[in-house]
Amino acid sequence: MPTLAEPQQDYSTLPDLPADVFTAPLKKPSHVGDDWLEPAQTEYTSEDHQVWDDLFARQMDVLPGRAATAFMAGLEKLDLGRGGVPEFGKMSEELNALTGWSVVPVPMLIPDHVFFWHLANRRFPAGNFIRTRETFDYIQEPDVFHDVFGHVPMLTDPVFADYMQEYGRAGWKAMRYNHLKALGALYWYSVEFGLIEEAPDDIRAYGAGILSGPTEAVFSVEAESPNRIMLNVDRVMRTDYVISDLQPTYFVIESFEDLYRQTVERDFDRLYRSLGPSFTYANTAVIDVDNVVHRGSQEYLLRGGRGSGAKPV
Ligand SMILES: [Fe+2]
Repeated sequence: MPTLAEPQQDYSTLPDLPADVFTAPLKKPSHVGDDWLEPAQTEYTSEDHQVWDDLFARQMDVLPGRAATAFMAGLEKLDLGRGGVPEFGKMSEELNALTGWSVVPVPMLIPDHVFFWHLANRRFPAGNFIRTRETFDYIQEPDVFHDVFGHVPMLTDPVFADYMQEYGRAGWKAMRYNHLKALGALYWYSVEFGLIEEAPDDIRAYGAGILSGPTEAVFSVEAESPNRIMLNVDRVMRTDYVISDLQPTYFVIESFEDLYRQTVERDFDRLYRSLGPSFTYANTAVIDVDNVVHRGSQEYLLRGGRGSGAKPV
C-alpha cells in the first residue's frame, strides 16, 4: 500500500534532491557542511544558563496539569531541570538509551530536506543559541529553549519517537508531490501545537510551540476562544495556520498510537493527488465532518489578537 513515506528510500547519506523540487534559498554559513551541523554546541555564558533556568521555572509554574503526562515524564527522565542549558552530548546518550534518538546542534533554521533527513535518522536538530532577556517572552526563530525543552521530552516516548522518524521520511515524499505546505500543516498541528485527550474532560498539550511558552500553555487547553477539534489527518493537511499568534484552532488526538496509525496507514499518494495547490480551510473554520470538542468564541482573535492588547481568553 502507498504510504506516508517513500519505502525504498535510503537515508544513510543525504539523498540527492530531484532537480524539480523547490527548496527555500537559505544561505548556509561557511563553517557548516551539507548536513548543516555545528561542529560543537555553543559555549554558553553564566547569563545564558540563568536565562534557561528562569524560562524553565516559568514553565514549571504553568505546565503541571496542562502538559501531557508523556511530556512531564520526559522532562523527568532526562532531568532537564538539573540547571543550565543541557549539554547535548550527555542528553543524547540518555535519550539514545531510551528511544535511539539524539539531539544535534544547528546554527539556525535549516533547509526542509536536511531537517527531514536528520529526523529520518532519529536525529533532532536543535537551535544552538538561547534568547536574551530582551526577547524573553517572544522569539521568531526557535532557540535552544524551544527546541530542547519543547521538543526533546516527547522524544522519550517510544510511539511519538517513531512518529517523528516517519514524519522525516514523509517529508521527502511530500517534496516530490510539491505538497510540503500540507505536510507542514500536519507538523504544525501535531508536533508544535498538538493536544491530547488523556481522559474525558482532561485535555493536555504535547506540542512544543505550546509547551515552551507560558501564555499558550494555558490558552490552548483552557480558553474559550479557540476551537478544539479531534484530529483527522486529511482535514488537518487542508487547513491553514498562523505562525505569529496564538492558534484559533487546536487539533486533539486520542493517543500517540492513534496519531501514528492515522499517519502511517493513510494512502498519502492518493491524498497528495487530491489536494489543491493551497489550503482549503481557514484556520478558524469548523466544518461538517469535524468531531468538535469545543467550539471557540474566537473572542481573542476578533478583538485583534497579538499586538492589540486583547486578552487571550
Ligand atoms: Fe519547534
